[in-house]
Amino acid sequence: MCGIVGCILKEKNDVAPILFDCISKLEYRGYDSVGIATYDNKINVRKAKGDIESVNEKLRFKNMKGIFGIAHTRWASTGKPTDENAHPHLDATKSVAIVHNGTLENYTELKNELINEGCKFTSTTDSEVIANLIKKYMSNGLNLEDALRKTTEQLKGSYAIVAFSKDEPDKIVATRQDSPLIVAYGKTGYFVASDTPAVLEYARDVIRPREGEIAILSNEGIDIHDKNGKSIKWKSTYIDWTPEMARKEGFDHYMIKEITEQSDAVKNTLTQKGKIQKVIEKIGKVKRICLVACGTSYHASITGKYLIESLAGIACDVVIASEAKYTAKTWDEDTLVIFISQSGETYDSRMALKEARKTSKTLAIVNVAGSAMCEEAEFVIQTQAGPEIGVAATKTYVAQLTAIYLFAGLISKNNALVDELYNVPAYIDEAVKQKDYIKELSKRYDFADDAFYLGRGFSYPVALEGALKLKEITYIHAEGYAAGELKHGPLALIDEKVPVIVIIPPGEDYPKTMTNLEEVKARGAIVLSVGAKGDENITKNSNVFIEMNPKIREIIAPLVYIVPLQLLSYYVTLDKGFDPDRPRNLAKVITV
Ligand code: AGP
Repeated sequence: MCGIVGCILKEKNDVAPILFDCISKLEYRGYDSVGIATYDNKINVRKAKGDIESVNEKLRFKNMKGIFGIAHTRWASTGKPTDENAHPHLDATKSVAIVHNGTLENYTELKNELINEGCKFTSTTDSEVIANLIKKYMSNGLNLEDALRKTTEQLKGSYAIVAFSKDEPDKIVATRQDSPLIVAYGKTGYFVASDTPAVLEYARDVIRPREGEIAILSNEGIDIHDKNGKSIKWKSTYIDWTPEMARKEGFDHYMIKEITEQSDAVKNTLTQKGKIQKVIEKIGKVKRICLVACGTSYHASITGKYLIESLAGIACDVVIASEAKYTAKTWDEDTLVIFISQSGETYDSRMALKEARKTSKTLAIVNVAGSAMCEEAEFVIQTQAGPEIGVAATKTYVAQLTAIYLFAGLISKNNALVDELYNVPAYIDEAVKQKDYIKELSKRYDFADDAFYLGRGFSYPVALEGALKLKEITYIHAEGYAAGELKHGPLALIDEKVPVIVIIPPGEDYPKTMTNLEEVKARGAIVLSVGAKGDENITKNSNVFIEMNPKIREIIAPLVYIVPLQLLSYYVTLDKGFDPDRPRNLAKVITV
């Protein structure tokens, strides 16, 4: 889940400021350490443990000389976050520099072989073997490209590698296996990166090399070679995300900017209605649907299950991608397997997608254009949230929900529901306007060690997502429960120190949820309810009441009721002095 970048400029200018700018855009992929290597008649490397800003203050990356180079921001997997383990890594003779994203399963074996051959290592990473293998094969007479190819033949695991050598100082080479990598070109030069937000400022024509292909960047252009070294014809895709979309634009954090952008995410995703209708027609008849995803996308999938089953009457399972192997055995040609993913790169989802392709029709609902899952699924629906930089998913979640509501509404020919979706952006804007109130009340919650989120029916996945938002950025233990499940165990944990957040929109499930609310209230819990404005029953039974537009029906509520819960997590995080955009131990894209 590290961020990697390489750049070679058309003119002979110093590349370090551009590399620094690009790698700064990828900090959401990891922030354990950072480093840059450039070529200036020799290889220069500056790298250290820490986040990009603090390391830059110490090492002054932008002063580095050289017209091409590579950069890396690390999310540690093999080897602790230390200066030595920071990338780029050099081989023992200091003639090859590499950056790597992924994990190598057989690195110990390879490292021992290299050590037996006299090679000295300076880090405890798996990645350093790559630089040494490339050097070994170059010393045996191969050129850089062939040495990289020969190296990858030895590697087991996932990788995106970008490398250069002082012995062939006019090019950067890159390749991938089960890890994302894009190549891009713009006015100033040629780029390679783990994902597009890194290069948006400089290049928006993007190529995605396939697994095993090698991209060769020189100051004259881009060449992509297949496994046999033969040049292949590539086609680029123009990315319509603007550089501004990936900037903070005056907001304190990406997370609050992205929460504020949610009405646009819904509006823009609604424009996909025609395309979704066409996808449904192409898919044709299905007897069964299975939704597969991780994290927040999994919560959107649960909502999808409830919608598809209740509106279309099609049997629908929902399964966490890393747990899909048993359900996968039941997929057949009458099953449509739907994958929901912001990044389109999540390892577990991709592995399940590979399985599903063998037996079933597959549909990916993805936010990042040109990502792996867009290529790997038979059908694709693109959510239109724009780039999401905050690690905590917010606007991409409501965009995923919008796509799945459209899908369910269209497949069941429920025009009334589809029409109702066009009211959602205004409801979201109204909810965001409550941010000062929520900021104020957040102070009452930063003391908490635990919190419970309750919801029933369509509000159950909202409870799960609300709890995930709280735990991932505030580090408060939080659990989402189906409200009716509480009395089967968790109620024992409720006392006067525990905040319980109840999602209780008006509708069929309201009376039962109200009973559950009263149950927790009776046991002294501090109740925060999210429900319809003016509801006296809720007012009476809650310590705090976040009032939503009463026109929002239960079935539509997931698209809107999540907003105050996101805001609550955001402000509690600020109260506790944490960075909401960079939660500890997490990264935005999970490719391992
Ligand atoms: C949630 O805030 C997280 N970012 C995480 O749970 C995320 O939803 C999960 O890793 C799945 O990612 P994807 O949507 O890119 O597949």
